[in-house]
Amino acid sequence: MAKPTLTTESGAPVADNQNSASAGVGGPLLIQDQHLLEKLARFNRERIPERVVHARGSGAYGHFEVTDDVTGFTKADFLKEIGKRTEVFLRFSTVADNLGGADAVRDPRGFALKFYTEEGNYDLVGNNTPVFFIKDPLKFPDFIHSQKRDPFTGKQEPDNVWDFWAHAPEATHQITWLMGDRGIPASYRHMNGYGSHTYQWTNAEGEAFFVKYHFKTNQGIRCLSAEQGAELAGKDANSHQTDLLQAIERGVHPSWTLYVQIMPAAEAADYRFNPFDLTKVWPHKDYPLQRVGRLVLDRNPDNVFAEVEQAAFSPNNFVPGISASPDKMLQGRLFAYADAHRYRLGVNHTQLPVNAPKATDANNYGRDGFMASNSQGRGAKNYEPNSYDGPVETGVPGSAPLALTGYTGTHVAPSHTKDDDFFQAGELYRLMSEEEKQRLVANIAGGLSQVSRDDVIEKNLAHFHAADTDYGKRVEAAVRELRED
Ligand code: HEM
Repeated sequence: MAKPTLTTESGAPVADNQNSASAGVGGPLLIQDQHLLEKLARFNRERIPERVVHARGSGAYGHFEVTDDVTGFTKADFLKEIGKRTEVFLRFSTVADNLGGADAVRDPRGFALKFYTEEGNYDLVGNNTPVFFIKDPLKFPDFIHSQKRDPFTGKQEPDNVWDFWAHAPEATHQITWLMGDRGIPASYRHMNGYGSHTYQWTNAEGEAFFVKYHFKTNQGIRCLSAEQGAELAGKDANSHQTDLLQAIERGVHPSWTLYVQIMPAAEAADYRFNPFDLTKVWPHKDYPLQRVGRLVLDRNPDNVFAEVEQAAFSPNNFVPGISASPDKMLQGRLFAYADAHRYRLGVNHTQLPVNAPKATDANNYGRDGFMASNSQGRGAKNYEPNSYDGPVETGVPGSAPLALTGYTGTHVAPSHTKDDDFFQAGELYRLMSEEEKQRLVANIAGGLSQVSRDDVIEKNLAHFHAADTDYGKRVEAAVRELRED
């Protein structure tokens, strides 16, 4: 078959792609060489700002299929009948390192899912951990600064990591999770995904429920030890990317089963844990897992930059029947993501194929801006209300209203009867086998012992002591031993 002709970006044939045009055989180059100028100028503009967190990731398409009836809890159309399938795009990621980092590191993993539903795109932007380090979005920039590269040394610093945690006792639960066996997943296929936050569901009768999402891997959980992770990260920085890409290319399609924990809205106020505190789980004996459906990934993107790097997930992309809860962290995220997308990708990022709705059309009066490609059709009005055929509101609220009382102010999150920063961290520790405890303690001590200031170490030790006496004693002994070496 004849190969297509190489052209400039405006479609003109290129005569020579090996030699620049010059003034004579040995002379300087000519500014009239459009092909050379265009090629160099485009190359200079190939990179865009990387994500400020979760810069490194891998993505794939697939579908979600409903297996169980949840219509008693949500009116979301894509969950309305057993067997209904919705196309999805999932981007996995590590959090702290930059685009050039390694996959097999101790770090939470992102689990960002876009459902292309007939009622618009629904984004569930979660992690592989059911909890998080902090519970107020005001602390997020400080937290991330402390975990990423130091502005002076240009590398991650145990001093910064542990100094932040010394001031964040609420992080003890997530630290226990991260430093434990699940802290380095063997691959993106072998880990669970969690919505982590509490979300609100609303059913057709207008009743409200609070919900937590759990995607359980059907590949089984597989993790790496600290030693295995270090070896693999050194040998193959792209180990997660290679694994996901090759599995799907081989036709081995990874899948997850979605379960939810459902709390009737009226139970939230008196639950023993603040249900809107992201540093806490809801024990399954309080709210058991209920199966909803199956998520399958079966298609790799054709172009990583276009579809993975330019993918934009925002926790405020909801569909009717699903909405935010009062979780303060979630509320902060409702602003942060689309703002990041406008900076990183531009105001028209929702028109890119990976981000645009696929099962319906976006139909509104937003217009123009850089790189607008979405013509609304000849004569379409750009204001509303109008006397013409433009789109109109439904008048149907997407979610049930929540009753609120109180005064405005910078309040500490409400504390429920069993709320403190340490109880659930201790519960997690006590669930572990002896071998798991030993590895957890060794991982914590390995990092904490590198901290230069004793007062920072002491503050962190106090958190482990508060979680569980045995936990605290062991971490303290291990840190002392390493510091004496
Ligand atoms: C207030 C707290 C948080 C803020 C302000 C925040 C902010 C951000 C920002 C600005 C990005 C980059 C977005 C982009 O450029 O496309 C991002 C990415 C991400 N965040 Fe957060 N984040 C917060 C907490 C969380 C939590 C609690 C989770 C998980 C439960 C999470 C999961 C993710 C994931 C998975 C991504 C990557 C999305 C993708 O694959 O494109 N974040 N976050």
